[in-house]
Amino acid sequence: MSEITLRCISCNTEYGPEEIIYSCKKCGGLLEVRMNPPEAGFDDFSRRAFGVWRYREFIPIEEGAEIVSLDEGGTPLYRCERLAKWVGVRSLFIKYEGRNPTGSFKDRGMTVGVTKAKSLGSKAVACASTGNTSASLAAYAARSALTCYVILPSGKVAMGKLAQALMHGAKVISVKGNFDQALKLVMDISRNMGIYLLNSINPWRLEGQKTLAFELVDQLGYVPEFVAVPMGNCGNISAIWKGFVELEDAGLTRGKPRMFGVQAAGAAPVVEMLRKNLDRLSPMKSPETVATAIRIGNPVNWPKAVNAIRSSNGLYDAISDEEIVETQKMIACLEGIGVEPASAASVAGVRKAVSSGSIPKDAEVVCVCTGHLLKDPEEVISVCGKPIEIPPDLQAVSEIIRPEQTPLL
Ligand code: F0G
Repeated sequence: MSEITLRCISCNTEYGPEEIIYSCKKCGGLLEVRMNPPEAGFDDFSRRAFGVWRYREFIPIEEGAEIVSLDEGGTPLYRCERLAKWVGVRSLFIKYEGRNPTGSFKDRGMTVGVTKAKSLGSKAVACASTGNTSASLAAYAARSALTCYVILPSGKVAMGKLAQALMHGAKVISVKGNFDQALKLVMDISRNMGIYLLNSINPWRLEGQKTLAFELVDQLGYVPEFVAVPMGNCGNISAIWKGFVELEDAGLTRGKPRMFGVQAAGAAPVVEMLRKNLDRLSPMKSPETVATAIRIGNPVNWPKAVNAIRSSNGLYDAISDEEIVETQKMIACLEGIGVEPASAASVAGVRKAVSSGSIPKDAEVVCVCTGHLLKDPEEVISVCGKPIEIPPDLQAVSEIIRPEQTPLL
């Protein structure tokens, strides 16, 4: 494998891959993993199982490392014809990340991040989380016998995610504050107590998440025109973009997609920054949205996400909670694909962009749907209502059943 370094995206200072750092020691900038383009290509990949490690040569983990895996990645790419009609676009695909081992895209990052933690000799790992990161880290820590601490914003984590972190044996700490405060706390803890930090500020994690780009090219046979991604802490859109850049640099693809970053209207600091064409982010003090996964006011990876959107001639938008919930229902009812609210933001963003003309009607779009419906059962009940209760008799049931009822579209 070619030489691997950590490089600051602001001042280009380089560090060795064995250094445990999460930001540049000189300027505080974000770090990115760099290596020369590997020799391997899709013919080599095709001989291996479909998933994150199929792209082994592009994952900068030293040979011989003990890989911590739960068979992550290799998620379906669904062509959605009825949903495309509702959205108003010629062709729409959903890359369904809910099919990962713990039900979200975070597993792609954790297989690499926890493998790295092990190879660095860490004994304990930690993260702050709106829920999915903690569920995933708890599972991968369990798999590799690491102690796991997760710090969650009290009362704002969906039930399914909390259940996962608890059951996988993480030490779950609830803070009376929001995600941004929890993240600051866990960064201090990891610095002072030598616990390995696995939030998306950790650049190794993004190396796993970039494989979504590789899978899209594998599944479609070409580079898609648009890729829409919900943004929270902004790691995922940055990682997917990095994947496309590396594919082109290695000569495996030609061209890159336009990246479309979507935030919830109540938690949209990156969209605000881009709208005003500023060069710095103004954090939002009290972010609020039904999509608790992306309820983030001060996303650490904003410089990487802004770079992905600007250099891809991309798009950005903020979506209301009403649009998110309506879209979540349509994805579920028209296609049978169950996603959590944050995931629906990508599709809702595309619908809005098509109706305003910023995505042409004859385009082909891939929407990344980041997490499973079952993550947030309480939200489902609050928007769908409880089931109708009846006595156990035919008369009562026949008043409800209408065989002639037509489908939604
Ligand atoms: N969708 C879901 C379902 C998420 O859980 C997250 C992030 C995102 C989208 C946004 O991804 O942060 O890389 O921009 N969840 C994190 C967590 C913050 O703690 O689980 P991002």
